Amino acid sequence: MQIGIDLGTTSILVYVRGKGIVLEEASIAALDAKTGDVKALGNKVHQMVGRNPKSLRVVHPMRDGVISEFTVIHAMIAHYIKKLCGNRLFKPTVMSCTPASVTGLERSAILELAIAAGASRACLVEEPFAAALGAGMDLTFPGGQMVVDIGGGTTDVAVFTMDAMALSRSVKVAGNLLEDAIIRYLRRERNVIVGQLTAENIKKQVGCACLRRPELAIPVRGQSYTTHMPVQIEVSSTEASLAMRECLRDMTNVIRGVLEETPPEMAGDIDSQGITLTGGGALLRGLDSLLQKETGLRVRTAQNPVQCVALGMGVMMEHPKFLRNNNVLFRTDDDIGEFERNRNL
Ligand SMILES: Nc1ncnc2c1ncn2[C@@H]1O[C@H](COP(=O)(O)OP(=O)(O)O)[C@@H](O)[C@H]1O
Ligand SMILES: [Mg+2]
Repeated sequence: MQIGIDLGTTSILVYVRGKGIVLEEASIAALDAKTGDVKALGNKVHQMVGRNPKSLRVVHPMRDGVISEFTVIHAMIAHYIKKLCGNRLFKPTVMSCTPASVTGLERSAILELAIAAGASRACLVEEPFAAALGAGMDLTFPGGQMVVDIGGGTTDVAVFTMDAMALSRSVKVAGNLLEDAIIRYLRRERNVIVGQLTAENIKKQVGCACLRRPELAIPVRGQSYTTHMPVQIEVSSTEASLAMRECLRDMTNVIRGVLEETPPEMAGDIDSQGITLTGGGALLRGLDSLLQKETGLRVRTAQNPVQCVALGMGVMMEHPKFLRNNNVLFRTDDDIGEFERNRNL
């Protein structure tokens, strides 16, 4: 069995070769506050954020695209492998991915972790590469193409040419920072403190990258900053846009920076091909228009932005040539053969 695990800051997706995406879970865990034992994983823990009992510690095992809680990720991978493979004799081959900025040491650590969690073999692919394939981009196209993957912790911008990554940058301006900006704005302008889940809800319900006409508004519960009493206020799309404005400007500047670094021929190709957006952050209303306006290039949002990386890993499993050309890190030299052999069966 070959499985691909997209270890995201916000969500974890599992792809099984021949079946497709079989699991989509929040990237979060509840630990026993005293012993540190993992008590619960995934979606059921998500609603606990900001309201967990003292006996439990809620953690996000991935931070800014890298593993911050190794034991939790180990438990998660082991849990998924067990769920998918039961007590099978043969252990699965596990493909995973990391943002472009992750160091070699961290990459090796993830591979070791996958093996310790029950994988027979493990490999790591570059996340932007998987995102681009999952978005349906034709990476055999000889010219330059750009993908921007906006996750919870990082935004990854990458340029590809002829099956390989030519340029990439990973920055920590992504979904979580937009929420932090909304929290700061409401405290400063409305004197109200809201939690992370509420801020995320505001972003998804009324958030917009450009000022929205007609304006939308939603009721929001929080706590007065001065009296600490519970309060309810209306938050408008304009307020959400103003709150996120600076952060979105940073995001735009990163994309511009990569375009500036791109050699002229490739930049010309991107001009004709446009930019593809993936990752949950690409769902922010009006983001495509904003980026189009700011870069002057055509911007397209992938069909299932949250699923792109997992789907792309599926494409790689079917076409090992992508593994050969692309800095794929295998734990053993023999590992790539596994994909090739399976292909020829
Ligand atoms: N409709 C939406 N509007 C704006 N942001 C969204 C929407 N849906 C999801 N997101 C954001 O996308 C981010 C998660 O994207 P995802 O690709 O799953 O991240 P990761 O790869 O880091 O796990 C979160 O910050 C989430 O709030
Ligand atoms: Mg991701």
